[in-house]
Amino acid sequence: MHDEGLIFKIATAAKQLRNDKRKSVYNLAVGESDLMRKKLTIVGSGFVGATCAHWALAKELCDVVLIDIDNDITRGKALDLFQASPVLGSDCKVVGGSDYDLTKNSDVVVITAGLPRKPGMSRDELLSKNASIVKAVTEQIVKYSPKCILVVVSNPLDAMAYVAYKVSRFPKERVIGMAGVLDSARFRSFIAQELDVSVEDVHGFVLGGHGDTMVPVVEYCSVGGIPLTQLLSTEKLNAIVDRTRNGGAEMVSLLKTGSAYTAPSASVIAMVESILKDKKRVLPVAAYLDGEYGVKGYFVGVLAKLGSAGIEKIYELKLQKEAQAHMDKSVDHVKALVSQLSF
Ligand code: 2OP
Repeated sequence: MHDEGLIFKIATAAKQLRNDKRKSVYNLAVGESDLMRKKLTIVGSGFVGATCAHWALAKELCDVVLIDIDNDITRGKALDLFQASPVLGSDCKVVGGSDYDLTKNSDVVVITAGLPRKPGMSRDELLSKNASIVKAVTEQIVKYSPKCILVVVSNPLDAMAYVAYKVSRFPKERVIGMAGVLDSARFRSFIAQELDVSVEDVHGFVLGGHGDTMVPVVEYCSVGGIPLTQLLSTEKLNAIVDRTRNGGAEMVSLLKTGSAYTAPSASVIAMVESILKDKKRVLPVAAYLDGEYGVKGYFVGVLAKLGSAGIEKIYELKLQKEAQAHMDKSVDHVKALVSQLSF
């Protein structure tokens, strides 16, 4: 028998020693391989959170801590994942529980906590309940991991990223919302399906808020380098844009008891991987804008470079008239949501 929580605490304490530059002591405490492993905390062990942990473990990306209110269930989910590690050939540690002490010195923290949508419900209807959950979670996270990078997933996304930013008082580079990678993945997968081509060769992205007003940017989309507008009729393109905008609702109406989780969690882990490995991928994410696109003080989906410092650059694109009008409408929607918050 071993106590996985204790082992994790020892590894975390040892990592602290390493950070303190007391390397010789650290090396006595754990094997050299642990020197390199990063630590990811996922708050909320529902479908999205647990599947994030699954992807991270399967990719052997980092050690993972799952946190949720029910200690036993969360420990159980983590233990189940840990027991899969020999089969997956992954030496990453996974632990779970309700005690934020486990999260100490995380490099990245993903916040998935909050209520999911039910059929017929908009993301915006979750605003006040999820705002108080995200606030409480953020306060705990900041206490234990003051240097982490926060990736917010809870809905309504752009408003929840704003809550985490305000409560954490982190610099804007270290608070990031996940939505654009997911919305773009939906957009790209529908295009690949329509054209019967590899998803790998479809490049495109969705900007703006994570809601019905999101902006799939057709003019920047290409397939193997060919502009999408040369491959699909306006009618087909509009149908794909509409399906992308309603991608979350389509999933909720099919699943009936909750919202999508596989594509959302894969999207989260793509962002986390770029940060932990300092890959500097250029991805669509919700970022705090400080004048870009003429917006100041709100989280909006934009293309950004993600590296070890978090958001390392925001790319401000020239949009055609129609896309710009959609972007403005989407920003207005985010502003209206945020105005209902008391932060
Ligand atoms: C979605 O679009 C959960 O908002 C998320 O599926």
